Amino acid sequence: MKYFNNVLDSIGNTPLIKINKLCSETKAKVLAKVETTNPGNSVKDRMALKMIEDAEEQGLIKPGGTIVEGTSGNTGMGLALACIVKGYKLICVLNDKQSKEKMDILRAVGAEVVVCPTAVEPDDPRSYYSVSKRLAEETPNSWYVNQYDNLSNRKAHYESTGPEIWEQTEGKITHFVVGVGTGGTISGVGKFLKEKNPNIKIWGIDTYGSVFKKYHETGIFDENEIYPYITEGIGEDILPANVDFKIIDAFEKVQIKMLQFIQENLPEKKVFL
Ligand SMILES: Cc1ncc(COP(=O)(O)O)c(C=O)c1O
Repeated sequence: MKYFNNVLDSIGNTPLIKINKLCSETKAKVLAKVETTNPGNSVKDRMALKMIEDAEEQGLIKPGGTIVEGTSGNTGMGLALACIVKGYKLICVLNDKQSKEKMDILRAVGAEVVVCPTAVEPDDPRSYYSVSKRLAEETPNSWYVNQYDNLSNRKAHYESTGPEIWEQTEGKITHFVVGVGTGGTISGVGKFLKEKNPNIKIWGIDTYGSVFKKYHETGIFDENEIYPYITEGIGEDILPANVDFKIIDAFEKVQIKMLQFIQENLPEKKVFL
């Protein structure tokens, strides 16, 4: 019989699917690595499991302990699956811009969900960074994952996502394009691919309202670049340790700007930002 021993063993080995219609204007072959086929429905399953396994190895989590993390929802889902299998409790701290569905599904898989305001500075005590840290300090036998600075995150992609892409493309990949949030995916995959072939270009997708593109191009952390935006999961108002700017060749910014979104979609409502 062919089966996985538990849900965690089914993470990874996701398919590459050719994008035909969306990319019909380019001669390039554009392939999407469809990470939604992971059991938690996103690429984050890979790093969530790796961060927990490394923490277990280092003795940072004890049996029956509580895992605390600030997440846009997808890391939370990966952590939740691992917590179910391994018997840990989970507290997920989310921004109020994340969809209600993400909050509901995290609760459905057993996590406690704490919601924080998006539109505050990272070092504000109400921010989701500060609240996650505080909850970890206050909760006995707990461990704060910190996907931004926890380097097991990018290691997961160096060990699994990168090699899969290299093998699936038979080493013919020329450009890797990916959204950048914590930077784990781009840095781990990018490092692996550049070690195989330094000519492969690594392009990051950033959002308006995020600091990455300007920092990469100028070395300046420009607070004027920061404002609230709708896009979930990518772009940051901090520089996570997982972003390895050296291996990234270029950043491109994508919409959606929150103000523009509101003006286009809710023109009849008065909105104060
Ligand atoms: C679905 C999804 N894709 C991509 C990203 C960004 O990936 P990374 O954090 O590895 O830079 C995120 C981050 O939260 C995400 O939730």
